[in-house]
Amino acid sequence: MNIANPTARHITAIKAAVFVLALVPFFKLVWLVANDRLVEPLQYITRATGDWTLYFLCITLAVTPLRRLLKWNWVLKLRRMLGLYAFFYALLHFTTFLWFDHFFDVQEMLKDVVKRPFITVGFIAFVLLVPLALTSTNAMVRRLGGKRWQLLHKAIYVIAPLGILHFWWMKAAKHDFSQPVLFGLIVLALLGVRVAWARSKGMAVRPSVAR
Ligand code: HEM
Repeated sequence: MNIANPTARHITAIKAAVFVLALVPFFKLVWLVANDRLVEPLQYITRATGDWTLYFLCITLAVTPLRRLLKWNWVLKLRRMLGLYAFFYALLHFTTFLWFDHFFDVQEMLKDVVKRPFITVGFIAFVLLVPLALTSTNAMVRRLGGKRWQLLHKAIYVIAPLGILHFWWMKAAKHDFSQPVLFGLIVLALLGVRVAWARSKGMAVRPSVAR
């Protein structure tokens, strides 16, 4: 297989493999719960789903830089699925919180969201993810029009830093910043490279505009 330029059949196989691999953390959780292997299930599930939301946000943000740096255009075909997996794990993360922390009492949950700033930030990030997931279909791209769709999906540039802030704030209580700093740097690099590209594009365009 030519990794830079795989055939349609290879891309289908890669997509199927990514689809299955992305479900491994979910089925691991199901297995651990079903076999009563967790000492503190609520904490474990909340943390694992939070971690996987962040991983998938980072992986989704890595698609464009990977495509540009390696010239692997086909990776774009994975982006929607990866983004939807970020939403899937965020939904599980949120549902765990709503279910086990608040037994589906939405009013109590909202009080908690307002009271604890790190949860407020996580909640905002989740709320912003919802329209992206809902507009991820081809039909919605057509309905919104490419430009408006792209503008809406730029929300990911806000969601990822909010996810980092949420993580950082949670860990601040324990004075443990190693992981939030690591993921903060990853997100910074993934967003920074876009800013650098946009600037160099602007500089390349400017002389011809002046002419
Ligand atoms: C894009 C959205 C979100 C991301 C990326 C995210 C990510 C994370 C991460 C990485 C952790 C730490 C896991 C660890 O310690 O390894 C975490 C913890 C947590 N998150 Fe989120 N989260 C998001 C949204 C939410 C929402 C919507 C809620 C609830 C309304 C929430 C509630 C919590 C709680 C309660 C914890 C702490 C668990 C504990 O102390 O054991 N998060 N989140």
